[in-house]
Amino acid sequence: MEVLKRAREIEREGRRVIHFEVGEPDFPTASVIVEAAKRALDDGHTGYTEALGIPELRNAIADDYRLRFGINIESRRIAVTSGASGALNLLFSVLLNPGDKVLMSDPGYPCNEAFVRVVGGEPIRMPVDESTGYQPTVEIVKERWTADTVGVVLATPSNPTGSMIQKEQLESINDFVAEREAFVLVDEIYQGLVYEPDLDAVATSSLAIDPELIVVNSFSKYFGMTGWRLGWCVVPNSLIEALERAAQNLYIAPSIVAQYAALAAYSPEGFGVSEERRTRFQRRRDLMYRGLCDAGLEVPLKPEGAIYLYANISSCGLDSETFSSRLIEEYQVAVTPGTDFGSHRAHEYVRFAYTAAEDDIRRGSEIIGRAVRRFRNEI
Ligand SMILES: Cc1ncc(COP(=O)(O)O)c(C=O)c1O
Repeated sequence: MEVLKRAREIEREGRRVIHFEVGEPDFPTASVIVEAAKRALDDGHTGYTEALGIPELRNAIADDYRLRFGINIESRRIAVTSGASGALNLLFSVLLNPGDKVLMSDPGYPCNEAFVRVVGGEPIRMPVDESTGYQPTVEIVKERWTADTVGVVLATPSNPTGSMIQKEQLESINDFVAEREAFVLVDEIYQGLVYEPDLDAVATSSLAIDPELIVVNSFSKYFGMTGWRLGWCVVPNSLIEALERAAQNLYIAPSIVAQYAALAAYSPEGFGVSEERRTRFQRRRDLMYRGLCDAGLEVPLKPEGAIYLYANISSCGLDSETFSSRLIEEYQVAVTPGTDFGSHRAHEYVRFAYTAAEDDIRRGSEIIGRAVRRFRNEI
């Protein structure tokens, strides 16, 4: 966020910045979705809805699991929320008691720590790196597990690395956790933004491994609706009532306009737009991966999903914060230091988001190449 703020200041001074720090698609929401929102307003859909979302949308999400992924989920197990953020807040508020410990990856999505802390829980980070494909293994989970641990949060594809969890990894973690009657919560917010996953990866949804898992998802990324604040979670039957009560009390209902708009995301036209954008993200990923490697940076994992590359910058002789701050100040290229995502080897890594146009990725990679040579005193 510091880098983004600095980037905006530089832009206000009239200088151009190349943005590789922004964690949201740079495309506007598909017009079929926008038109559906306008229609919803014209039709008078302006009041509260059911706390867990309008039945039409819960049904559409359940149908989508069945049609695209072959997974049967009753729509009553789907709770529509204010973004994945709303789902995570809601879930932790019903799953945790003060003092409960929750395991999560380091590096990982930083807000999870805050979501757990706000209800009195204690986040415990699990260090992950290239040796396990940036995903925890059951051994890592076992090492950190204590009597107070009540659950594990996973993310596939993950932010900031784009890594996907392997089926075996998920199965063994799930078996270990299930024996302890604890929860596994999988954040699948980048579901759909997946490019040629290998056969061992969980390519569709973790629900295919175990339909009783808790899964969090969102309209933000694949459907390009970040600002609409709409997401969902799939939960076991035993959680629905508690979730409904919590939603009623905490925020009453998700946005009605966003919900009617999101219905249109499930139309052939809506999928057409999302799939075309996915292809563009894949091209950008390839371009940026090549660009960063040519720039002399080490990218340990060519990610199979999400919108990020996680590169090791330690060969420049700088820590990730100095690297990011010199890159924005001296070269007007904005990136996010690994320290925004945790502490495990965070000084060695920088996240590059390929949420910029291909021309910017080409130009930005060249500039980064020059910067890297300069940082290494080669020029
Ligand atoms: C891994 C992950 N989870 C959750 C979120 C929150 O997303 P939203 O609240 O927009 O659905 C993000 C946002 O970038 C994310 O990267």
